[in-house]
Amino acid sequence: MSVDLQERTAQRLIAASAKHTLDPDTEVDWEAPLLAHAPFMPWESVSLFDTPLWWGMSPQQRQDLSRHEVASLAATGIWLENLLMRMLLRHVAPLDPRSAHVQYALTEIEDECRHSIMFGRLIERLGCPAYEPHRVARRLGALFASTSDGPEVFAAALIGEEVLDQLQRRSLADETVQPFAQQVNRVHVVEEARHIGYARGELTRQWQAASAPKRVLFRATIAATVATTVGSYISPAVYSAVGLDPREAARAARTSPHRREVLRTAGERLTDRFLELGIIGGPSKQVWRRVGLLG
Ligand SMILES: [Fe+2]
Ligand SMILES: [Fe+2]
Repeated sequence: MSVDLQERTAQRLIAASAKHTLDPDTEVDWEAPLLAHAPFMPWESVSLFDTPLWWGMSPQQRQDLSRHEVASLAATGIWLENLLMRMLLRHVAPLDPRSAHVQYALTEIEDECRHSIMFGRLIERLGCPAYEPHRVARRLGALFASTSDGPEVFAAALIGEEVLDQLQRRSLADETVQPFAQQVNRVHVVEEARHIGYARGELTRQWQAASAPKRVLFRATIAATVATTVGSYISPAVYSAVGLDPREAARAARTSPHRREVLRTAGERLTDRFLELGIIGGPSKQVWRRVGLLG
């Protein structure tokens, strides 16, 4: 991607942001009553769906689990958005503030700020705890956000954004899901499309500019990023919240063929691009398989 193309992309994204920036205050009906029996995400996307544990759960337990898993994913979203904002700030600091490229990155930070507030309100409205990724994941995330370089920044951005975006799109296509949860999904999906476009362009440009030895290193750090991110989607505490044994339930989700298929298809757009560029390759491929994003 030439500098010209990079600037044109940023100009287009700034114009799109001016047209389609959504205010969660007015786009989401925060006071709307929740429906008595509707799931908060498609049943098929709940981590335990189609496991022996699932078939032994009551309808109420299943609905509660869908509610707590949405809260856990929203909390993970806030964590990832926080890390992304830090990385974008570091990315633009040495660059020319007159460029559209820098101005768009700052616009994206504005979007992520609103999203994190929206997700915080969502968790509160769902009546769920503020789930947190594991302490080790949080430490690794903070370290990565302050040291990541070049294509690592935008590969991590895409890992954080594309898989959750696909899950939210799948939710939007399901009319049985709670309208309240769908309003939040819609705001996020509309705005993430720009972020994904920006990260894809930058990643391609920076990956192609990286030297062969650096690429070997980046493949490893990017694989570590995917393992930390996907491993943080569902806090085991959600299972205790609905009366299940957290260890047993987490193991059931991890080994569920249905769950792996959900993750694999949600990650397909991302993994196709990463395989094409060579970001997934060599020994790191095993990590992508283990987390379930590659078949
Ligand atoms: Fe976001
Ligand atoms: Fe984003």
